[in-house]
Formats: sequence, C-alpha cells, structure tokens
Amino acid sequence: MTLNNKKVVVIGGSSGIGFAIAKSVAAMGASVVIAGRSAKKLEAALAEIEQDVLIYPVDLTQEDSVRDFFEREGEIDYLIISGSSVRSDAFYELALADAMQSMDSKFWGPYRAVKAAQMADDGAILLFSGVLSRRPAPGMAIVSEINAAVEGLGKALAVELAPIRVNVISPGLVKTPAYSGMPDDQREAMYQNTAQSLPARRVGEPQDIAEIAIQILTNPYVTGTVIDIDGGSLLV
Ligand SMILES: NC(=O)c1ccc[n+]([C@@H]2O[C@H](COP(=O)([O-])OP(=O)(O)OC[C@H]3O[C@@H](n4cnc5c(N)ncnc54)[C@H](OP(=O)(O)O)[C@@H]3O)[C@@H](O)[C@H]2O)c1
Repeated sequence: MTLNNKKVVVIGGSSGIGFAIAKSVAAMGASVVIAGRSAKKLEAALAEIEQDVLIYPVDLTQEDSVRDFFEREGEIDYLIISGSSVRSDAFYELALADAMQSMDSKFWGPYRAVKAAQMADDGAILLFSGVLSRRPAPGMAIVSEINAAVEGLGKALAVELAPIRVNVISPGLVKTPAYSGMPDDQREAMYQNTAQSLPARRVGEPQDIAEIAIQILTNPYVTGTVIDIDGGSLLV
C-alpha cells in the first residue's frame, strides 16, 4: 500500500502509539506532520524517525494553539489524535480539578481538534479511548468516563461528519512512554502480570496498534467503529 500524496497529521506523534503510526505512514510515502506540546520530544521523534516529516508544537487543551495549528495545516487526509495526558486516583482522592483537567485533555482536546481541522471529504479521523471504558478498574473512574465519552464522540461524528470517516481505537495495555514515570520494577511487574492474565499472553507494542490504525484509516468501508486491540482484555 502507498500513501503517496496523502497528508497525515498525528497529534501525539512524538511518543508511543502516535509515534509508531507516524513512522509507519511516513515509510509508506505520506506527507506527515507530527505534533505535541514539547518541542524537545518532537525533535527527538524527528531524529529517530529517519524519514522526511514535519514537526509542530500544539497543545490540545489550548483553543488558540489548536486553531493556529490547523489554520496553518490546511486540508488533511488522515487525522490521528493520540495525544493526551490524564491523571487518575481513587474516586474520593482525585481532586475535581484534576479530573476536569484530564477530561479537558483527552476528551475536549480531540473535540477541539476535530472542530478546527479542515478534513478532505474522503478523509478519516482516528481517536483513542481505552479498555477502561468497558472494563473499569478501581482508581481509574475518570479514565473510564473519558474513554466512554471519546467512543460516543467517535460514533456521533461518524454520522454527522460523513462522508468523512471517524473511528476509535480502544487499546489495552501497550508498552509506551506513558508509563515511564513508574519505577522500573513496578512497570515490569505490571507488564508481566497483565500479560499472564490476558488471552493473548502478552501486552501490546505500539506497532501492534499502528498496523491496525493504518487499515482503519485507509479502508473506505470502516466508520463509526470502536476497534478493541487489547489482547482479549474485555474477556477476562
Ligand atoms: N499505552 C497504553 O497502555 C494505553 C492504553 C489505553 C489507552 N491508551 C491511549 O492511547 C493514546 C496514546 O497513548 P500512548 O501510550 O501512546 O501515550 P504517550 O506515549 O504518553 O504519548 C502521548 C503523546 O501525546 C502528546 N500529548 C500529551 N498531551 C498533549 C496535549 N495536551 N496536546 C498535544 N499533545 C499532547 C505527548 O507529547 P507532549 O507531552 O510533548 O505533549 C505524546 O506525544 C492515549 O490517548 C492513551 O490514553 C494508551
């Protein structure tokens, strides 16, 4: 498959799943823009990707930043929004302000971005939720709520923005820098315990998600879906 002449924007492309998607679509000939908040992370991604991609800073929580970014970008074929930062804690411990900030990042961020983006009529948008929407866990209520909201948004936009296609990927645990703040031993134990509990007997790698993401973006008959890529997390 070639993505020659396709313009692809990956917000959250400087790390993890977004980076894997950006790298793959760049290798397939797309014209790729990687965006995120930190210029340092964007520079590091650019150095690692070994392809001709552009990087721009954008903060999904800032309306001006999002508007300026999309005004400059013009028409986009494929928009991937994997950028978010959320905080969670036990329901009674998490400050309401932190819960709202998380919603602002992972739900209102993509909402702002889609509102500002100029999509091609045959274009496609890909959002990210996560297994917690339908497989809640203690201490993660806010993430369950946000993920469910993103899934609802994806379906609603698939209807309202048609023929632009809109889909949501719901990942299970994927090894990304999202977990780099954890002590190494705790992180490895989490990966191992999760892998043992899953039907797939492994946790995800960013490339596992990237491969399906490209199929979803490019298949003209896929819209309004929530695709679970989670090693069977919803079954156990
Ligand atoms: N990894 C998992 O196990 C997992 C599981 C379920 C769901 N997910 C979801 O999958 C998506 C990708 O996760 P990941 O693990 O690949 O994340 P990651 O490695 O932490 O990368 C997050 C990316 O988003 C950017 N970002 C964060 N806040 C942003 C903002 N306000 N505006 C613009 N960019 C922002 C980050 O760069 P800056 O910090 O420089 O902005 C970075 O490029 C997320 O929505 C996540 O919730 C992940």
